[in-house]
Amino acid sequence: MEIQVLPVAADQLRQPPKADYGFCVTFANRMFTQHYTRDRGWHDAKIEPFAPFSLSPATSSLHYAQMIFEGMKAYRRADGRINLFRPWDNTRRFNNSALRMAMPVVDEEEHLAAICKLINIEDEWVPSQADASLYIRPTMIATETMLGVRAGAAYLHFVIISPVGPYFSEGFNPVSVYITDAYARAVRGGVGEAKTGGNYAASLFAGEDARRKGYSQVLWLDAIERRYVEEVGAMNICFVYDGRRIVTPSLTGSILPGVTRRSVIELGRHLGYEVEEAMIDVHEMLADVKSGRITEVFGSGTAAVIAPVGKFGFHDEEIAISDGQTGPVARELFEHLTDIQYGRAPDPFGWVYTISPNGH
Ligand code: COI
Repeated sequence: MEIQVLPVAADQLRQPPKADYGFCVTFANRMFTQHYTRDRGWHDAKIEPFAPFSLSPATSSLHYAQMIFEGMKAYRRADGRINLFRPWDNTRRFNNSALRMAMPVVDEEEHLAAICKLINIEDEWVPSQADASLYIRPTMIATETMLGVRAGAAYLHFVIISPVGPYFSEGFNPVSVYITDAYARAVRGGVGEAKTGGNYAASLFAGEDARRKGYSQVLWLDAIERRYVEEVGAMNICFVYDGRRIVTPSLTGSILPGVTRRSVIELGRHLGYEVEEAMIDVHEMLADVKSGRITEVFGSGTAAVIAPVGKFGFHDEEIAISDGQTGPVARELFEHLTDIQYGRAPDPFGWVYTISPNGH
């Protein structure tokens, strides 16, 4: 793939913020784009100024949500180089999501090479501050101008990047989670395991409801029985039993197969924990929290990293977890994971892909 690099006009060049990044509120000066048509395949790859797209109001993805995205991060190492974390896994998932949404796949090597080239050019947007990183948002949308309900014939693949701090305003402190059995996010056989915007749109109403009740996230149950724990929308969820056994919901088809979730499973086992994927009954789980058998609950995700959960809400009840404090297992996993991500510790798993300032 030939990538054409276009200049940014001097009066359009912005400087990265120095601190208080928030989550994806400012974007680097450039983005990657390429187009797909049935006759030409992927073509016209560019690194060009970050700017609004011009789209027809009849662009099919604006109506029927044929779109996918990914979330990845780049971390500044102490030696100035940059680590991508498990980028192959996110790229594979991007293509799995594309297939599920009847979209064309991208060449995985080229997708990754485009991301590395963009980050190399926009090197100064990778923060050096502790707890900060560069969030990478690969996206694909259907761009055909038509309102028939069918897969589009044209697509835009783009990658935008943004310096970020912790996803939750709580930082690495416990978040509160409301368990809903009134609404469902995704159903088996649907698109819950694809990273597609509709899953997030489906979560917003319950998310606002939870916020009004004073909680920052929603825990989803399976859509049929409203009984088995699924995920928290912006992250997967893990339960710690007796301080030594980590259990996370099995991937049943309606849960996002998280890259950080898989890392927790592998790292947890490496650190000597028993780790299990299982169907988790919400009533049993809450009884185990109340009896103290569940000693910790935490979420895992690219944006969230490891997020301790300090409190559940369910119907009218409030249930504190580990006295509302961050537990030792979440802390140990957070520290090991971020040490590997930032290159502060060796990476025995081969998860990290290091790019040097002048190429990859
Ligand atoms: C991520 O963790 O990267 C996500 O995509 C979750 C959310 C911010 C949409």
